[in-house]
Amino acid sequence: TKGSDFVVVANRLPVDLVTAPDGGTRWKRSPGGLVTALEPILRGNKGAWVGWPGVADADPDPLIEDGVELHSVPLSAAEVEDYYEGFSNATLWPLYHDVIVKPVYDRKWWSAYVEVNRRFAESAAKVAAQGATVWIQDYQLQLVPKMLRMLRPDLTIGFFLHIPFPPIELFMQMPWRTEIIEGLLGADLIGFHLPGGAQNFLYLARRLAGQPTSRGSIGVRSKLGVVQVGFRSVRVGAFPISIDSGNLDERSKLKSIRDRAKQIRKDLGNPKHIMLGVDRLDYTKGIDVRLNALLELLEEKRVDPASVAMLQLATPSRERVDSYVQLRSQVERQVGRINGEYGEMAHPVVNYLHRPVPRDELIAYFVAADVMLVTPFRDGMNLVAKEYVACRSDLGGALVLSEFTGAAAELRQAYLCNPHDLEGVKDSIVAALEQDRDEGRKRMRALRRQVLTHDVERWAKSFLAALSGGGVAGSALI
Ligand code: G6P
Repeated sequence: TKGSDFVVVANRLPVDLVTAPDGGTRWKRSPGGLVTALEPILRGNKGAWVGWPGVADADPDPLIEDGVELHSVPLSAAEVEDYYEGFSNATLWPLYHDVIVKPVYDRKWWSAYVEVNRRFAESAAKVAAQGATVWIQDYQLQLVPKMLRMLRPDLTIGFFLHIPFPPIELFMQMPWRTEIIEGLLGADLIGFHLPGGAQNFLYLARRLAGQPTSRGSIGVRSKLGVVQVGFRSVRVGAFPISIDSGNLDERSKLKSIRDRAKQIRKDLGNPKHIMLGVDRLDYTKGIDVRLNALLELLEEKRVDPASVAMLQLATPSRERVDSYVQLRSQVERQVGRINGEYGEMAHPVVNYLHRPVPRDELIAYFVAADVMLVTPFRDGMNLVAKEYVACRSDLGGALVLSEFTGAAAELRQAYLCNPHDLEGVKDSIVAALEQDRDEGRKRMRALRRQVLTHDVERWAKSFLAALSGGGVAGSALI
């Protein structure tokens, strides 16, 4: 074989290697939206996916799933610590999310990041056919575009950042800022969720890569939306990601799901209002904000504990990183306090689950929830907000949504709030709880129009069309 014509490179493979109770290993499909969106394109193009199998020291053979080759990039335990938990999730993640926690700048972590990015680039270079298209994903792999181009100048290379690109003043903290900008500029097209992130990047490309550095200038001149790197033009644009909304819409109408939603309401004691939060347990998500808001609303008697049940699903995430350990104790203290003061025996106010929930069960929660609480301090997009809307074909429910999410740019009919303004959050929750039926239906209809017409397939197609130089329908090349 001569390699694959379309290669996706992401930190994680679409499947995780899991260890079974008998000590053996098996693959477990991860339910990510990216796989769903890219699967048809991968299958139609002799596709391959390069990624980490999700556990340290595992080096499984390439796996072929539905005609798509999965190639593992093995990481040692030390690399998981320094590249993944360290540089990716204790440096880049907090820096790119408005320094909600203080980023740690550790030289050893940076070396591991460079080394692991090199390994991803080498692996992609081996797998890609002559002239192939390679699409690199997210903040863990920002050096791969340049490294891959040096190895394989024949490739067409795209990069998409799934998290926010930060304000210039914050990015400038990064000791290795020039290397990161130059790494990204190895791509032919760099995609962000929002025009603001693309603008920040363009400014920095001009400022950092355009001036002489100790490693010599790469001579960047930039117009809006295009950066000239020597003889190459790198294009920069906004491509807001989405979900498989059609599929969720359909599933949410199934009788089995609607029955399960009714049962959930019964199990919660038939409250007048069900409030729902669904997040990875991450400090960017503002889980603490909504719990504080609820506590104060109960204290002020603006919410009657007998009439509401809140359900908070928190998927375990990055559990060995310090700030995640601390967040978990904080959230669990808050849940305990609210239930201690306002719950009744067998009827807590907050039902909290710290575990992953099966897809159909999650859809039933969305269908059951009267008020969906999405209150991040900062979020690149937030797909949960879109998933909730896609599941409400009954036009019921209300969405409380932080202005600091990418989704807020599209979901204007939500109850928008500033998560730093606790009174504002409380008012939005009360407005959502008390909305009249017609107002709610009107809002939900408008939200659904946006989400159902802008799905993840449209996102992937518009990025790839722009990458191959074709049309840019549905996206903005700024
Ligand atoms: C965010 C990132 C992804 C990441 C996911 C889960 O959505 O943008 O790149 O895969 O979180 O985090 P994890 O660290 O478990 O991969």
